Amino acid sequence: MKALVYHGPNDVQIDDKPRPNIQSPEDVILRVTSTALCGSDLHLYHGTVQGTEPGQILGHEFMGVIEETGPEVHEVKIGDKVVIPFNINCGRCWFCRHELWSQCDRSNPKGELGASFGYTQILGGYDGGQAEYVRVPFANTVAALKVPESIKTDEQVLFLSDIIPTGYFGADIANVQPGDDVAVFGAGPVGYFAVMSSFLRGAARVFSVDHWPARLNKTKDLGAEIINFDNQDPVERIKKETNGKGAICIDAVGYEAVGHTANGGNISNSTNNNSRHDHSRVSNPAYEPANPLQVINWMCQIARKYSTISIPGVYGSAYDQFPLGQLFNRELQIRLGQCPVKKYNEQLLHLIEVGRIDPTPLISHTMNLDEAPKAYEIFDKKEHATKIVFKP
Ligand SMILES: NC(=O)c1ccc[n+]([C@@H]2O[C@H](COP(=O)([O-])OP(=O)(O)OC[C@H]3O[C@@H](n4cnc5c(N)ncnc54)[C@H](O)[C@@H]3O)[C@@H](O)[C@H]2O)c1
Ligand SMILES: [Zn+2]
Ligand SMILES: [Zn+2]
Repeated sequence: MKALVYHGPNDVQIDDKPRPNIQSPEDVILRVTSTALCGSDLHLYHGTVQGTEPGQILGHEFMGVIEETGPEVHEVKIGDKVVIPFNINCGRCWFCRHELWSQCDRSNPKGELGASFGYTQILGGYDGGQAEYVRVPFANTVAALKVPESIKTDEQVLFLSDIIPTGYFGADIANVQPGDDVAVFGAGPVGYFAVMSSFLRGAARVFSVDHWPARLNKTKDLGAEIINFDNQDPVERIKKETNGKGAICIDAVGYEAVGHTANGGNISNSTNNNSRHDHSRVSNPAYEPANPLQVINWMCQIARKYSTISIPGVYGSAYDQFPLGQLFNRELQIRLGQCPVKKYNEQLLHLIEVGRIDPTPLISHTMNLDEAPKAYEIFDKKEHATKIVFKP
């Protein structure tokens, strides 16, 4: 079968791989009908995530039709069309029973972190869904997202695998309340759905910060007030717009943040000190993140005092540095982590079904899986791509 395979930093290729087989009684084999490229795949692509090994099939946003089931699969059957959460959940461990789906204790045979598809040895080393077929373990847990008859296209529901729930999670852990002003950093796919979700939760105003006009225009279409940080200092602008009160902050960027502001920025100098980076943990020692703490620093200045800073953007431990002083002084709380997709995606599906939200305007490209290596280059440049979907 055809699959998108990681070969090394900035090198992904379509390879011929063996079709996966049932390995455990609760496995299913899914024929992938649509799959997407995520900002998280770019961290792997850059060779910046510990435990990324050549040969792995990437992709954790996918859906498809069940072609084969193991003997202990009872909740789904051959022919069902399902959207698969990117977290792999056993459904029975303490964490799954408490709906902490992103930290399942039994899905990852290689460590303590909850497993994900297509995402490094540390998260289990499972092959991903940018392929014609994928093995889905613990498949009884994916029954919740069978695609209903009323859904006509994959594109309406594909992003329930990750970025819609992740955007919602960003707003949820920030505890966005009716009447709040919210600042969402990053207008990529996760930022887009964090803006949408903040409005769903009743935000009064949402500021969307990025520097790519095509991406900012998408969040503007959702009603956000856009700030291009190449032209304007987001801290000054948001402080002014909120009469000094500040906003609830969501980081939809992560450690690959770039940082430069119109006035030269107001960045703590620790952010440019790369000496503490532990490059031995990653496969691309040449990589230097541009300014990994840029967004964290902005948020620590602009967050409404006593609020919770929300960080769905990924931070890789090889690049950790931290402004604890501001957090302490302004009594900010932080919540972050992988989205527990199953916590949100049924309700979000219902919003799509009844027409309250429509994720499809985000898609800028639909491409054949054969073109995936090219798609990684285009999405990595960000300028013209807002979301790319593959058809295997
Ligand atoms: N927590 C989770 O479960 C989860 C799930 C999906 C994605 N993610 C993470 O969320 C982040 C965003 O994902 P995406 O798919 O939208 O990625 P993306 O790379 O497409 O978008 C990131 C955006 O951030 C912008 N940006 C860079 N520096 C900035 C700055 N200083 N201020 C404002 N914007 C800035 C970029 O221009 C880009 O548009 C990534 O780190 C990804 O790994 C986390
Ligand atoms: Zn993703
Ligand atoms: Zn579990």
